Amino acid sequence: MENTAPAKKIMLSGIQPSGDLHLGNYLGAIKNWVERTEEFDNYYFMADMHTITVRQTPADLRRRTLQQLAQYIACGLDPQKNTLFIQSHVHEHAELGWILQCYTMYGELSRMTQFKDKSQKHSENINAGLFTYPSLMAADILLYQADYVPVGEDQKQHCELTRDIAIRFNNIYGNVFKVPEPYIQKVGARIMSLGNPSSKMSKSDPNGCVFLLEKPDDIMRKFKKAVTDSDTENCVRFAPSEKPGVANLMGIYSSITGKSYEEIENEFAGKGYGAFKPAVGEAVVETLRPIQEETARILADKAYLENVYKEGAEKASYLARKTLRKVYKKVGFVER
Ligand code: TRP
Repeated sequence: MENTAPAKKIMLSGIQPSGDLHLGNYLGAIKNWVERTEEFDNYYFMADMHTITVRQTPADLRRRTLQQLAQYIACGLDPQKNTLFIQSHVHEHAELGWILQCYTMYGELSRMTQFKDKSQKHSENINAGLFTYPSLMAADILLYQADYVPVGEDQKQHCELTRDIAIRFNNIYGNVFKVPEPYIQKVGARIMSLGNPSSKMSKSDPNGCVFLLEKPDDIMRKFKKAVTDSDTENCVRFAPSEKPGVANLMGIYSSITGKSYEEIENEFAGKGYGAFKPAVGEAVVETLRPIQEETARILADKAYLENVYKEGAEKASYLARKTLRKVYKKVGFVER
């Protein structure tokens, strides 16, 4: 640790191990994380505690948590330079989560659109955890005095609430929490479904979704079937509102190769979609090949993986502990 350099800003994010990672996660999030390694002091965790707000098969949850961690590393996230951990390994999350529930209003939680959506989707299991989930998410963020939380559209409301909770708590007890800012990505690729380019690529639409661990043949098939446009122009041209499917494929290709849209248009001038779609597929296959090999290698090395998440949890709990101790004192708990 060099203590002469000015402290870096803290960036934190969690991803739920609720499904297999896909190209949208990689190009839209993980790739940016890798690029931010040096700029920030980064904390990334597998949000397994959030995941059980919806019923899970235990063996699958365990497998996906480890697999997700292995994939982050395989995607280039260096565990020596980023703190990677599993949420449930740092018990301060649960502890601060409870406290913050007592500083979150019923009315606020009732207005969360994700709660409304999820309780409709899982009407047989509208449990209290699903309802108070934003308080736990606030704890995740506030424990680390995070400066920035990279947020997508779907998590904006939760981040707003986190700020409100932090401000409310600080107003009562003094400056306990850093009030985090949402971090808007620079050009962050927003990858859409290959089958339906008006909705985001999502694991719940497997035909339009390319998983990071998917076989090359399956990837190629999905790209060959990708929706382009309904006109007969058959021309690779960047026009998102007219040709959203083509624009999406160009976005993927650009994000992987670093080529500009103009360069891509030139490359495929006069060639049509029949050449373009498999070329994007090939580029994706070649990008994922080393990631897949590295994931397999890491997953086979149990001792290495265990070492990564244990060290990560230790580093994380060092910060988490400091914040929690302060909070316990402020609210009036007797010191242990
Ligand atoms: N709620 C986020 C999601 O569903 C995951 C998450 C949990 C998270 N805790 C977080 C994201 C803290 C950012 C910061 O995607």
